[in-house]
Amino acid sequence: MSQRTLVLLKPDAVRRGLIGEIIGRIERKADWTISALELRTLDRQILEQHYAEHVGRPFYEPLVEFMSSGPVVALVVEGERVIEGVRALTGPTDPIAAAPGSIRGDFGTIVRENLIHASDSEESAERELKIFFPSFA
Ligand code: TYD
Ligand code: MG
Repeated sequence: MSQRTLVLLKPDAVRRGLIGEIIGRIERKADWTISALELRTLDRQILEQHYAEHVGRPFYEPLVEFMSSGPVVALVVEGERVIEGVRALTGPTDPIAAAPGSIRGDFGTIVRENLIHASDSEESAERELKIFFPSFA
C-alpha cells in the first residue's frame, strides 16, 4: 500500500549536522522515494497548525520556541507503508526509551529535542502534508 508521509528534521538535527545521516536512513529503505524537500524556518503560526493537538499543554510553549529556533528540513516521503515505517525508524517520543538503532534512540536524550517528526497516521499525514506542501497535497 503506497502512502505519503510528512517528515521534519527538527532544528537540533540540522544544528548537529545530522541531515545526511537521517535522510540516508530513510533513503536506503527499499522502494521509498523523497518527493519533496525544503529547508525552512517555521513561525508560530505554522507550528500552531502543525501541533494543533498540543496547544495549551504545558510543553507547548517551549516546543514552539525550540521548533522555531532554527531551520528544519521538511520532506515528503512516499512508498510502501511509509507512515508506519518512518515512525518505526524514528522510535518513541522519549529518546531514552527509544531503542538503539532508531533515530531518536541513537542520537537523542531530551524529549523536546528528539530530532525528527513523522506523521503518525493516514489522517495526520494528509493534514500535515497540506500545511507544509499545499501545492503538492
Ligand atoms: P507527540 O506528538 O506526543 O510525539 P511524537 O513527536 O512522537 O509524535 O509530541 C510532539 C512533540 O512534542 C514531541 O516530539 C516532543 C514534544 N513533547 C515534549 O516536549 N514533551 C512531552 O511531554 C511530549 C509528550 C511531547
Ligand atoms: Mg505526534
